[in-house]
Amino acid sequence: DWTMAAFKAQAIEGIRRQVGENGRVICALSGGVDSSVVAVLIHEAIGERLNCIYVDHGLMRLGESDQVVRLFRDHYNIPLVHVDASDLFLGKLAGVDDPEKKRKIIGGLFIDVFEEEATKLGGADFLAQGTLYPDVIESVSFAGGPSATIKSHHNVGGLPERMNMKLVEPLRELFKDEVRELGLELGLPESMIGRHPFPGPGLAIRIPGPVDRDKADILRKADAIYLEEIRNAGLYDKIWQAFAVLLPVKTVGVMGDARTYDHVCALRAVTSTDGMTADFYPFPSDFLGRCATRIINEVRGINRVVYDVTSKPPGTIEWE
Ligand code: XMP
Repeated sequence: DWTMAAFKAQAIEGIRRQVGENGRVICALSGGVDSSVVAVLIHEAIGERLNCIYVDHGLMRLGESDQVVRLFRDHYNIPLVHVDASDLFLGKLAGVDDPEKKRKIIGGLFIDVFEEEATKLGGADFLAQGTLYPDVIESVSFAGGPSATIKSHHNVGGLPERMNMKLVEPLRELFKDEVRELGLELGLPESMIGRHPFPGPGLAIRIPGPVDRDKADILRKADAIYLEEIRNAGLYDKIWQAFAVLLPVKTVGVMGDARTYDHVCALRAVTSTDGMTADFYPFPSDFLGRCATRIINEVRGINRVVYDVTSKPPGTIEWE
């Protein structure tokens, strides 16, 4: 009779056996469910011999980095390095508008920064990864297929060999819903376990065209308002993913007596079971109207809001 509590105990045993009495582990924490569960689980198994590195590329959502640091460093007491690498990432992204180039730059810098910080910590014998069962299967059956591309950011590919580290992958036998269950078993807050997926490249792929700090700041505000409205309406858990996109298009508007000329913000929300196919979420029009009014009134730089009614296929969930 299989329970998550039993799995947890077994996984902790397995980690202790693999890592040994003195082995040290490093974990790239992204703030997402998988890496969070991995970090807390390994911390339970080996305590302070786990170090986490949170590489902040400056393209996270409003307040997100603080939340990650507070939860792991302050609440769980897990040794955590918070690297603010936003100048580096935004500097290298300046003027780049091709979506795949953006991903490559971010993925490459992520590995560079992670390696540098890991070296500063004196290295480690093991690298922890939140590999799930579907990743194991897919990377066998279609290596280089959709999963390999999608996960490219979180997979610190090549690093384990370069730094002579072995992999610790305690979630290899689990599906996503089981990881969530394990997270609850480990006492992670439900708000963290139930979070919508967030792509590794972050807001960079929600700002079509070149990215800069001003645009990221504008988008963060609009996105936070939209998500707040979704939570207030009790809809967050009915939706697979919801986010705002800042379009590189300016349109004319009117505010009081004055003409405005500002960016368009697109809102996206989809239902899905695995992210491979998706339907747009049919919000009531008063909900959409309320979001539009608040975003335009509260966010400088946006004067028009549109809703994306594209399903996947033919659209993708993200805009890039
Ligand atoms: P698309 O846009 O391809 O997204 O329909 C499917 C799911 O994958 C996420 N996604 C990414 N995740 N790095 C990631 O870690 C990426 O480059 C990336 N691109 C898309 C997307 O948020 C959705 O959940």
